[in-house]
Amino acid sequence: MCGIVGYIGNQNAVNVLMNGLNRLEYRGYDSAGISIFENDSIKTFKKVGKVEALKGIIEDRNLSSKIGIAHTRWATHGEPSDINAHPHSDSFNNISLVHNGIIENYSTLKQKLIELGYTFKSQTDSEVLTIFISYIYSQVKDLEEAVRLALSEVEGTFGIAIISNYEPDKIIAARRGSPMVLGIGDDELILASDTSAIIQYTRQVIYLADNEMVVLDANGYSTKTIGNETTTNVIHQIEYDLGRIEKSGYDHFMLKEINEQPQTITDAFRGRLLIDEGNSRLGGLSIIEEKLRNAKRIIITACGTSWHSALVGEYMIEHLCHIPVEVEYASEFRYRNPIILPDDLIIAISQSGETADTLAAIQEAKQKNATVIGIVNVVGSTISRETEAGVYIHAGPEIGVASTKAFTSQLAVLALFSLYMGRMRRVPIIEGQRIAKELSLLPEKINQILENADNIKDIAHKFYKSKNFLYLGRGYNFPVALEGALKLKEISYIHAEGYPAAEMKHGPIALIDKDMPVVFIATKDEIYEKMLSNIEEVRARKGTVIAIATEGDSQISKFADHVIYIPETLPMLIPILSVVPLQLLAYYMAVELGRDVDQPRNLAKSVTVE
Ligand code: AGP
Ligand code: GLU
Repeated sequence: MCGIVGYIGNQNAVNVLMNGLNRLEYRGYDSAGISIFENDSIKTFKKVGKVEALKGIIEDRNLSSKIGIAHTRWATHGEPSDINAHPHSDSFNNISLVHNGIIENYSTLKQKLIELGYTFKSQTDSEVLTIFISYIYSQVKDLEEAVRLALSEVEGTFGIAIISNYEPDKIIAARRGSPMVLGIGDDELILASDTSAIIQYTRQVIYLADNEMVVLDANGYSTKTIGNETTTNVIHQIEYDLGRIEKSGYDHFMLKEINEQPQTITDAFRGRLLIDEGNSRLGGLSIIEEKLRNAKRIIITACGTSWHSALVGEYMIEHLCHIPVEVEYASEFRYRNPIILPDDLIIAISQSGETADTLAAIQEAKQKNATVIGIVNVVGSTISRETEAGVYIHAGPEIGVASTKAFTSQLAVLALFSLYMGRMRRVPIIEGQRIAKELSLLPEKINQILENADNIKDIAHKFYKSKNFLYLGRGYNFPVALEGALKLKEISYIHAEGYPAAEMKHGPIALIDKDMPVVFIATKDEIYEKMLSNIEEVRARKGTVIAIATEGDSQISKFADHVIYIPETLPMLIPILSVVPLQLLAYYMAVELGRDVDQPRNLAKSVTVE
């Protein structure tokens, strides 16, 4: 689920691998390790905790190797510990393996291997795979074939990389479910679970397909499927610059990414927003134009923050296109045998493009012959390849585990999509022009909110000791309330709940007392007056009110204890603005509490396991 790096080339592999692990830290992990060759045998170093701790145990050793593999682990089987950390070795230290994912049939395999006399040091499923490969090698005496045969019997998900004394000039890697990219440099090959560990060395990459394996040696690479069929590969160019994955003077990636939003929204619109025509052009959808025209229902599926975007998308699409929209957690959709009709269109939203539940929901929909499109950030990711058509949000790499800029870019793309579908069906050009014009003004309006960051920081300073928060919004701001609460929980560990404001009186109102701050997203729209009544209900019970309100609203300060103003825009576009102060509020509270903002505990950036 977390990170893998492999290197073969003329540089010292140790430096490239450690550097790669640093680049992958953002994915969230609990331990790290590395295997290299020294004096013709495999040396493995692994440590629970940060990559820095691993660095501590190897830095005085002057290690040098031309080949090696490295790993950051996000524990699924066995607690985070030195022993459970990867790489794992077979009994005679002839094979060293790193693994991301879950081997679902590990206990059957383990039992079989125990009966054959093998012993195990760790509690992981990954060690079972290592020893299983070693066992098969003892039969077939060919490493590549041993890996292939072992993987053919494995159930579950994996990205793996292996080095071995048996064939010490090679790295063998493979994937199913978990991502794996091969970087092709001049006289060097870098393998990694994402491009951020590669870009420093080369921009030329191959995204391994599901069930594909690759063998690397000094002469190059060759690929085939785990089923032993030959494969052909397309070399892609990484399009972002190294600066996009560096902090560039900011204290945290999350703050950098919040501040990048005027730019990332501009990037989402580039070449797509047609103000004069009152429309948008989404090249990635042209091949399914007819299906879009005929769609009778849309189902949007996603997880977490992307699911919150989906809720906003539902409101936008129903409003502009009059097509019924349903939003489903991908994890529910995949298991409940959903009804999919012939003219349904399925949209999967994912920042990483690797989320296991979303991927499984896509497979479920495809099996039922549905048209599935993706709204994805990571170029070349599995979801972008598994969908029939799609739109990249072009937010650039998002390193902070808490999603910020990807959320607003997803909303920007959903607005473009709704405009395009709406113009196809019922939205007149004048209305289209008004929406397109308002969209074009969003980056500058986000800038204005960011300029107000100090005010938000002051509010955070007043409230960071609170134990609970309630976030309330209505209409387009209801999903924003959910997202604001999620951001706070994720990075500050303060308990927070998001609700539609009117639901408060059906239960959560019981929680309100003088110690409960309530964040109201109360921008000017047709239900503004109703929001004021909800605020009154909180004040009557001595709750403290922080309001996100529209600039020029002279009434709100009489109701709220603290107000954060945002510029006015169309109701359907408000979430793109109203979420920004909530991102900053969560950020500053987490900083006040001394939290690890970019890598909050227990979280992983891309959840490639169920
Ligand atoms: C967001 O802050 C999260 N950490 C998480 O909820 C995330 O949005 C979710 O796991 C979905 O990820 P995806 O967009 O990469 O599919
Ligand atoms: N399932 C493996 C373990 O618990 C791999 C976890 C990961 O993806 O990092 O060790």
